[in-house]
Amino acid sequence: MTALSGKRILLVIGGGIAAYKSLDLIRRLRERGASVRCILTAGAQAFITPLAASALTGQRSHTDLFDREDEADIGHIKLARDADLVIVAPATANLMAKMAGGHADDLASTVLLATILPILIAPAMNVRMWQHPATQRNLTILRQDGVHVVGPNDGAMAEAEFGPGRMAEPLEIAAAAERLLAPSGPLAGRHVIVTSGPTHEPIDPVRYIANRSSGKQGHAIAKAAADAGARVTLIAGPVTLPDPAGVTTVHVESAREMLDAVEKALPADIGIFAAAVADWRVANAGEQKIKKKDGALPNLSLAENPDILATIAHRSEDRPPLMVGFAAETEHVIEHARQKLAKKGCDLIVANDVSAAGGVMGGDSNTVHLVSASGVETWPTLSKADVAKKLVERLGAMAKGGQP
Ligand code: C5P
Repeated sequence: MTALSGKRILLVIGGGIAAYKSLDLIRRLRERGASVRCILTAGAQAFITPLAASALTGQRSHTDLFDREDEADIGHIKLARDADLVIVAPATANLMAKMAGGHADDLASTVLLATILPILIAPAMNVRMWQHPATQRNLTILRQDGVHVVGPNDGAMAEAEFGPGRMAEPLEIAAAAERLLAPSGPLAGRHVIVTSGPTHEPIDPVRYIANRSSGKQGHAIAKAAADAGARVTLIAGPVTLPDPAGVTTVHVESAREMLDAVEKALPADIGIFAAAVADWRVANAGEQKIKKKDGALPNLSLAENPDILATIAHRSEDRPPLMVGFAAETEHVIEHARQKLAKKGCDLIVANDVSAAGGVMGGDSNTVHLVSASGVETWPTLSKADVAKKLVERLGAMAKGGQP
C-alpha cells in the first residue's frame, strides 16, 4: 500500500517539451496504485497525443471544453470533482498565469478554476520566463491560493541555457503527490472497524424481526474516524443512509452475517460496535413464506444471536487493542453500562438513554455517558456528528496510551 493506492488523479498536461515526461509520470503514478485521467491543453498536443496519454492511463483523455461527447460522458465540472488530486505537469508560464488570474478559456483552465481538490503544479519553462517578475508574482498568488508546487529543478534547458526551469522528475512529482495524499490526523495509519444500524433477522423470505436503530450515530462515527485519517471498515446493517465517503462499507442483514463480516475485516486497531444487533433470531425461520391459516398462529421459536462485541473482545489472537461498545438503555443507564463493560470485555462503553422521550433512536442528537474503568464522564447533548468527532478525538488519545 502506498498513499496513492486507490487514489484518482487528474493530470493536466500543459504545452512544453517536458510534456513527454508526463507520460512517464502517468506510469509512475499507476505503479503506485493510482488511477489517472488526463486533460491535454492545445499546446500539450503539439508535443504528445491524447492517444498516447489514453494508452498509458487506460482512460479516454480530454481536450475540449465544448466537446459534445465529453460533456455527455463526464462533463467538465464532474471532471473537476471526480478525483482526489489534480496535478499540472508541465505547468507552463502561460498556464500558471491563467490559474493565477482565474481565466477559464479552455478545458484545462476551466477545470482548474472549477475544482475544489488539492492542486500540485510542476512548473517547467525557460529560465528567463521562470525568473520574470510576472511568473514569480503568479507563483506567489498560486501559493497564497493553496496550490502546492514541486520543482522546478536547476539544469540544462532545451534551449542550451542553464538554470531553474526544468520540470521536476516524474519520481519527484509522484513523491510530492504521495506526501499530499498521505493520511494525516489523530488516527492516521490505524484501521478502525465500526458496526452500525440494526440487524434484520428473517422470519421467512419476506418478514423479519428488526429494531428502530437508524445507524446515524454509527455512520457518523465511521465518517469522523475517516476524517481523522483512519482506514475505516463500516459493517452496516440495513439502513437508508448513504455509504459515508472515504469509508469501505460492507452491507449485511443479520447478526450472524455481521459477525462474519467483522471477523473478515480483522485485524484492526480499534473496534467501535455501535450496531443495535438483534438479541434473538428465529430458529425455525421458514424457507418459504409462512401462510396464514384460519385460527392457527405460527409457532416461532427464538435462538440467541452471537454477541459480536463480546466474541471479538474475548478473542486472544486478534482482539483490537481498543474496543468500544454502546449501551442503549431505557433505565438505570450508568449501572447497566458498568455491568456491560465487565461482561463484554471492552475498554469503553458509550451509554445513552433511548427511552422514547429522548428521541435518540432515529434522531439527530444524543446525550452520552462514557463509562470505563476510570469512571463515568457525561457529555452535554450534542449532534450525533459532534458526539462522533469527540469520541474519535478521545479514541485517538487513548490509542496513544491516554486515559479513557
Ligand atoms: O447487550 P446489548 O445489546 O445492550 O449491548 C450493546 C453493545 O453490544 C453494543 O455495542 C452492540 O453493538 C453490541 N452487541 C453486539 N452483538 C450483539 C448484541 C450487542 O455486538 N448480539
